[in-house]
Amino acid sequence: MPKMPIQIDVNDVNYDLLVEPDRSLVDALRDDLGLTGTKRACNEGECASCAVHLDGKVVKSCLVLAVEAAGHKVMTIEGLARNGKLDPVQQAFAENFAAQCGYCTPGMIMTAKALLAENPKPTEEEVRQGIRGNLCRCTGYAKIVDAIMAASGQPRQRQDPPSQYRVVGRSLPRTDSLEKVTGRAPYAYDMRLAGMVYGE
Ligand code: FES
Ligand code: FES
Repeated sequence: MPKMPIQIDVNDVNYDLLVEPDRSLVDALRDDLGLTGTKRACNEGECASCAVHLDGKVVKSCLVLAVEAAGHKVMTIEGLARNGKLDPVQQAFAENFAAQCGYCTPGMIMTAKALLAENPKPTEEEVRQGIRGNLCRCTGYAKIVDAIMAASGQPRQRQDPPSQYRVVGRSLPRTDSLEKVTGRAPYAYDMRLAGMVYGE
């Protein structure tokens, strides 16, 4: 299939790309532009780990063709922090322990950001509805809901159950939270080696 030249704006930077007509946006972002913060998991629209913003609306980038994004503005997790300052949603995810393995986190944050742009003061139920298409296999979602409520400036309703282990000091941020909320945490699927081949 002959490749097509496209221009695409990603995180306010213009890129010229040569892509196959059926190349997905997630593959163009990750493999052509090296923006591996956007995660590719199911590759069929089921998990939203690949969520990005297209002209301000959240989309699953495995379901969008790169050629469809040509001439439009794409925002990925790498574009949220500005001048070394985390976006408030990223900050809230870090402070509320909302990332464990972190693989769903970039997509979850992009979805949360779009949700709060449309509904700045959601109820917890609206938050749960807003992220219902984003799969997380680690957290049980409670901390993610806490983080989104915190990012909206609202106190959380949920109380932590009493714990026999909560005996000293205070909770400290995870040491890897910054990498996970910015999409910089490295996973095996993000690694690129010279001459590497893929099996799927
Ligand atoms: S990788 Fe796109 S929805 Fe799962
Ligand atoms: S933190 Fe591991 S899948 Fe969500």
